[in-house]
Amino acid sequence: MCGIVGYVGGERCVEVLMEGLKNLEYRGYDSAGLAVASPGGIETAREVGPLNNLAGTLKGRDRDFFSVRAGVGHTRWATHGRPSEANAHPHKGGGAGGPEVAVVHNGIIENHGELRRELRGRGIEFNSETDTEVIAHLLAERVASGESLKEALVGALKRLQGSFAVAAMSAAEPETIVAARNQSPLVVGLGEGENFLASAVQALLGYTRRFLFVENGEVVEITGSSVGLSTLEGEPVQRETFEVDWGAEAVELGGYEDFMLKEIHEQPAALGATLAGRLMDDGCADLSDLDLNLSDVRRVVVVACGTAYHAGLLGKQAIERLARVPVEVTVASEYRYADPVGDEDTLVVAISQSGETTDTLAAVGAARGFGGRVLAVTNTQGSLITREADAVLLTKAGPEVGVAATKTFVTQVAAMHLLALALAEARGARPVEELREVGRALRLAPEKVEEAIGLAEERAGEAAEVFEEARCSLFLGRGAAFPVALEGALKLKEISYLPSEGYPAGEMKHGPIALVDGRCPMVAVLGEGVLREKTLSNVEETVARGARVISVAREDDAVAAAIAEVVLPVPKAPEVLSPFVAAVPLQLLAYRVAKARGLNVDKPRNLAKSVTVE
Ligand code: AGP
Repeated sequence: MCGIVGYVGGERCVEVLMEGLKNLEYRGYDSAGLAVASPGGIETAREVGPLNNLAGTLKGRDRDFFSVRAGVGHTRWATHGRPSEANAHPHKGGGAGGPEVAVVHNGIIENHGELRRELRGRGIEFNSETDTEVIAHLLAERVASGESLKEALVGALKRLQGSFAVAAMSAAEPETIVAARNQSPLVVGLGEGENFLASAVQALLGYTRRFLFVENGEVVEITGSSVGLSTLEGEPVQRETFEVDWGAEAVELGGYEDFMLKEIHEQPAALGATLAGRLMDDGCADLSDLDLNLSDVRRVVVVACGTAYHAGLLGKQAIERLARVPVEVTVASEYRYADPVGDEDTLVVAISQSGETTDTLAAVGAARGFGGRVLAVTNTQGSLITREADAVLLTKAGPEVGVAATKTFVTQVAAMHLLALALAEARGARPVEELREVGRALRLAPEKVEEAIGLAEERAGEAAEVFEEARCSLFLGRGAAFPVALEGALKLKEISYLPSEGYPAGEMKHGPIALVDGRCPMVAVLGEGVLREKTLSNVEETVARGARVISVAREDDAVAAAIAEVVLPVPKAPEVLSPFVAAVPLQLLAYRVAKARGLNVDKPRNLAKSVTVE
């Protein structure tokens, strides 16, 4: 959470910082701020609320503010101290006895209380409740004593405990930015006569596609003409440039009202790109480039959070059905403290769209404890998890800006099916032709999801009307439809704030049926195969008790139509695709309910897309 950005070079500094922050707003939008440096001092602009508020404030600044050549910016997801202007970054230090410094920070300084007491003891006054402000004062003291900004940052870092990506500037070196990280991400963007810093590459796609990744224990100093990377001990570090293939248009609305809607519509393309080169015409899944020996895998553990966890549940079903390997799926925040059991034959699959979710990274660390091999399934090239894993299976959804995961969910599910097929073949778990048939069916995912979008677009508004007076809702499913129901409930609650739970339909009688009344709509995901019938009878039982039902069912399913007030139709598709097509109407339903309530679907309250704190 929190996004940082930095720029040194030309006079487009403020423009670059604002554009960078716009593309990082998914990391937090409690407040935003900029600091720009000139030999005279450091000027800041900070505002509570979304970036637009800051943009409004900047209109009142004089021309000098816009002619600076270096600055840092921040978009905040509050951890220490409520969202307020005083708590907004950048935080300043110094000024009285030495040059002013400014700091932006993503992460948590765990020993900030102790440092605050120590600094107060030396007469330093604090202006905010944040943990970050201690860094500004530690830096300012060192700069005042004659240290360069880089020396001061290295010295200050030695005092910090916790996770951070921090960027700093000083009035004494107005065209230099220094930065470092521990756990939280930090990238350097390379330009011509200008250089950039950001929490993620998405921030800078309009300016460069060439990046350097800063690792833990390194410090970087950037000016308009140089980028110097070194260890905290001062050893120079050579790092290869990383070129990303995402374009700037990926982070633009492109005519859509919201990113969520755009990203729902991008699902066919995202699936096509994820499967391309990995799923052959004959249905063979090829993961040979991962350089991971799958033939001796005896057990799989999936660690993930939120939507990625739901993709993991679908992956479990696919792997167990096709490869006959036992799979455990665990929420990463639990797994990291579970003292997990395993051995070298355990394949640990860490699913993370962002590749920087703290709990998922820590769960990978826990698996390392027993010698497990780690496969990362991630959407983010060069992300932290790609550097922690033994192998990386990239989903190719492109940047996802909306906080609610949509296209990344279906691509994660596709990636897990690729793994299931490759694992099954490597272990000889099923006749090859049977696996190929599943593979060929999976190749239809883009076109079936396209059809599903068309069908659901027509009916989602009508289904959303059922939620007008709702006080809660239940999403029911069995088999593959159960993780889809969980995902549908998560989508609805996170963007519409309506309490919604996913349940295995067969569990209704064991408690949740008590919730049933006309103001608690049931969303029944019927799915395919034998469990469709079972789900139908579970739903009948709720109808008998006054439930209003929306069913997600095949367009020609007359029985589903008879019990439901509204049917969200899905196209006829091979069974392996049923979770893919069923996920789509639930995304659109959540979208329509939230829009009807006048809510911001891309930036739901209290949330950030990348959860980089525990
Ligand atoms: C769902 O819509 C959320 N954005 C959230 O649950 C997300 O899937 C979770 O935080 C995990 O993020 P990751 O995939 O980046 O690790």
